[in-house]
Amino acid sequence: MKITKEDRMSCSVHLSEDEKAVVILDQTRLPNHTEYLTLTKIGDIYEAIRSLAVRGAPAIGICAGYAMYVLALQKSTESREEFCRHLEADGEYLISSRPTAVNLSWAVQRMLDVVHRHPEKNVSDLIPLLKEEALAIHEEDIRMCRSIAEYGLSLVKPGDGILTHCNAGPLATSKYGTALGPIFLARETGIPLRVFADETRPLLQGARLTSYELQKAGVDVTLICDNMASIVMKNGWVQACFVGCDRIAANGDFANKIGTSGVAILAKHYGIPFYTLGPRSTIDMNCPTGDDIRIEQRHPDEIKTMWYSEPMALPEVKCYNPAFDVTDHSLLTAIVTDAGIIYPPFDINLRKLMQG
Ligand code: MRU
Repeated sequence: MKITKEDRMSCSVHLSEDEKAVVILDQTRLPNHTEYLTLTKIGDIYEAIRSLAVRGAPAIGICAGYAMYVLALQKSTESREEFCRHLEADGEYLISSRPTAVNLSWAVQRMLDVVHRHPEKNVSDLIPLLKEEALAIHEEDIRMCRSIAEYGLSLVKPGDGILTHCNAGPLATSKYGTALGPIFLARETGIPLRVFADETRPLLQGARLTSYELQKAGVDVTLICDNMASIVMKNGWVQACFVGCDRIAANGDFANKIGTSGVAILAKHYGIPFYTLGPRSTIDMNCPTGDDIRIEQRHPDEIKTMWYSEPMALPEVKCYNPAFDVTDHSLLTAIVTDAGIIYPPFDINLRKLMQG
């Protein structure tokens, strides 16, 4: 699959025309405002990731790749050793912005590996290699999303209803998306599917982003509150659940947006197949189980005050606001990756996939 510059530039994260900045479609402003951020400073890039202006595991990884290149360009030193030290410190700082999605540290590490792989090269020779790697991370994601879309589409039939949680579409990735990939591909090829999008409390990625992307593409999408998933399943309207993932552990447990594990439990109850869809860059073989995944905790105001004209709870009320939960692999029908559909036993089959 040939990827053009236009393909890259149309993604929610890309390199600026002058190739000195990371450009981000600010997802905190959607669906009412389409605004782009052009970022060059490390503090601004960190803040864009932390505040979810750029979000979704693969998009964060793409952003990190470009960020490392843009920051490398700004280093004034000619000393390879100093360059390397500064770039490593930048990478560490960026990784600390959000802990759960493995794609962030994976992309930073890929960029640092370019430097480590070429001990003979001086700083000016490393710069084009870093640019090449950042572009490769992005282009690979476009290809991976397309393969995931094809594999995922093979799991459903015309007229099926699909329930999804959070946003794992083009905004969170590149081009097709992961969990929404089969749905966009179905639309492109004229296969009718119906989608139920959980609104996804507290940050409403399902309402603000998923229903927006699907509606704009002409997909039959119905927005529901998170607590309506059960009735929609009981009504017989859902034939499969497709969700994204932020980190897949070696045994198949996976972290995704808070509420995902509840959807998986409901799907099991109603006998509905439940799939997570993600690229190989989201599989972390160094993480043995879901218990080893660090879950990001976010500010209580996201529950109490955000989106409301007045606070919806007393200021002194305690809040628990984990951004993700872990779905046990026993609830998963299969993992749809860019290299194929992985069925249980996940520990053995994931190892085979990653070794292959
Ligand atoms: O907090 P977010 O919005 O970054 O969480 C995103 C998710 O949980 C997505 O489902 C996941 O990253 C997969 S995106 C292709």
